[in-house]
Amino acid sequence: MRLLRLSVMLSAPLLLWWVVSVLAQEVWDTAGATEVNTELNLPELIDKGRYLAIAGDCEACHTAPGGKLFAGGRAMEIPRLGTLYSSNITPDINVGIGGWSLREFDRALRRGIGKMGRNLYPAMPYEAYAKITDEDMRALYAYFLFGVQPVHDAVPANRIPKPLSARWPLKVWNWLFVDSEVYQPRPDQSDEWNRGAYLVQGLAHCGECHTPRGIAFQEKAYDETGRGFLSGGPVLDGWEAYNITPDPVSGIGKWSREQLTQYLETGHVNRLAQAGGPMAEAIENSLSKMRGSDIAAMVTYLRDIPPVAGEARAPRHQRGQPASEVIIKRGNPIAVDTHPADATKTSDGARLYLGMCASCHGVDGTGTPDGYYPSLVNNSTVGAESDHNLRQAVLYGVRRTVDGHKKMMPGFANQLSEQQYEKLVNYLRRTFAAPPGK
Ligand code: HEC
Ligand code: HEC
Ligand code: HEC
Repeated sequence: MRLLRLSVMLSAPLLLWWVVSVLAQEVWDTAGATEVNTELNLPELIDKGRYLAIAGDCEACHTAPGGKLFAGGRAMEIPRLGTLYSSNITPDINVGIGGWSLREFDRALRRGIGKMGRNLYPAMPYEAYAKITDEDMRALYAYFLFGVQPVHDAVPANRIPKPLSARWPLKVWNWLFVDSEVYQPRPDQSDEWNRGAYLVQGLAHCGECHTPRGIAFQEKAYDETGRGFLSGGPVLDGWEAYNITPDPVSGIGKWSREQLTQYLETGHVNRLAQAGGPMAEAIENSLSKMRGSDIAAMVTYLRDIPPVAGEARAPRHQRGQPASEVIIKRGNPIAVDTHPADATKTSDGARLYLGMCASCHGVDGTGTPDGYYPSLVNNSTVGAESDHNLRQAVLYGVRRTVDGHKKMMPGFANQLSEQQYEKLVNYLRRTFAAPPGK
């Protein structure tokens, strides 16, 4: 008897706790659900939002490799902090943004305040999205809440060690450094120019990668009136986003309108530049799917922002010579040179080039006549001031699918010893990045 009484006494609080928590969950869920702005569940608005989500490239960060659309969980290494996982932004009520009101959604996008009022890391580009108009925000909301398939998969917990994982310092950071608000059209500019500015500064968040960072890793400028806007970003994940201001030497001032349009739409302009790494992703998911008129508007704006000069003395796409010393090595056995296990068999870069690259980029490096395999002479990635992107391309290759057409260069990380890699890069720079006239 006593035993029974004891067990009831012990289990009563447990039972009570269980009932309360179930009720609380219920209240919480329905409270959330009643806040949903169902009046925005309109087909035209959802369609508009779908396009804006493409322009904003939400997919790039919110879809893990091979994962479900917008289910998050993509790992992002943040230097000196740890690993952050992007959120599930499908309308799942438990693990996604189901139940969110327009106000909460807006707050996350434009102010960087997420679930339960927590501050979001600026890996979510809210400084750029702050430019989005109310009208476009409603369309994005309609799409994410009513046009996206809910996915029930929770994302892994962040791996950020204790004191650093506190989010309040982000409030201070925002207060000190973020100075960005809804885009104000400039009356002295055309509608096209303003549309381009709106997209470049806002949804397309070009500055996230292409604008230099300040002491606290904040973007130094959020529009063309700030110094250094789009004049070249930091190295992120091994890739560097170049100066894309109209400076004729350090930027893209010598590119024609047509070349810039073709690059943004396809990622490929032979004898100029190709897009690898994160730029290939931006083109694949976003830019190649945007309307011609929006690309044209961005091109108009980009060609009109203040040029910013840098260190370069010749444009990166106007460097290099066709290789000549490679020809005579043709026919010699090269297997020994490319044997990964035997690093002592050093070889010179030209032979490595001949063995690993020439089959596509041509014996002299000028690519195929139709330009499908691009020239490495007059190639912005090879001729750039720094060799970060060239190294990334050699190690990890290039992958890009545009309009169903796949472009692929294999990576060579597993086939080169450290020494061979250095010799090859050295050779590529000496030959295909030589200043003009040398
Ligand atoms: C460059 C990467 C990147 C892009 C592009 C991006 N996001 Fe995010 N987003 C993130 C990361 C990372 C987080 C989580 C940040 C954190 O946990 O502090 C996040 C968080 C969010 C949240 C908050 C979710 C929550 O549970 O609190 C929402 C909503 C969101 N993003 C919506 C969007 C939308 C809509 C777009 C496109 C217009 C977009 N994001 C584009 C990286 C990105
Ligand atoms: C996620 C980062 C990222 C975003 C966002 C991004 N870029 Fe890039 N961009 C890069 C990187 C990295 C490269 C270098 C690619 C390479 O060398 O293969 C690049 C290269 C370029 C180039 C070629 C420059 C040259 O000289 O070769 C242009 C032009 C360009 N980006 C324009 C844009 C525009 C316009 C936007 C916004 C619509 C944008 N980028 C958004 C990372 C980014
Ligand atoms: C199987 C064919 C193939 C081989 C082999 C090959 N490439 Fe490529 N390479 C490509 C293709 C395809 C592209 C992308 C073209 C495009 O973007 O339109 C490319 C692009 C490049 C780029 C520009 C990348 C960028 O991000 O701007 C460089 C630099 C490059 N290759 C160097 C090399 C070097 C060096 C080697 C030898 C180590 C090599 N390639 C081997 C096919 C190849």
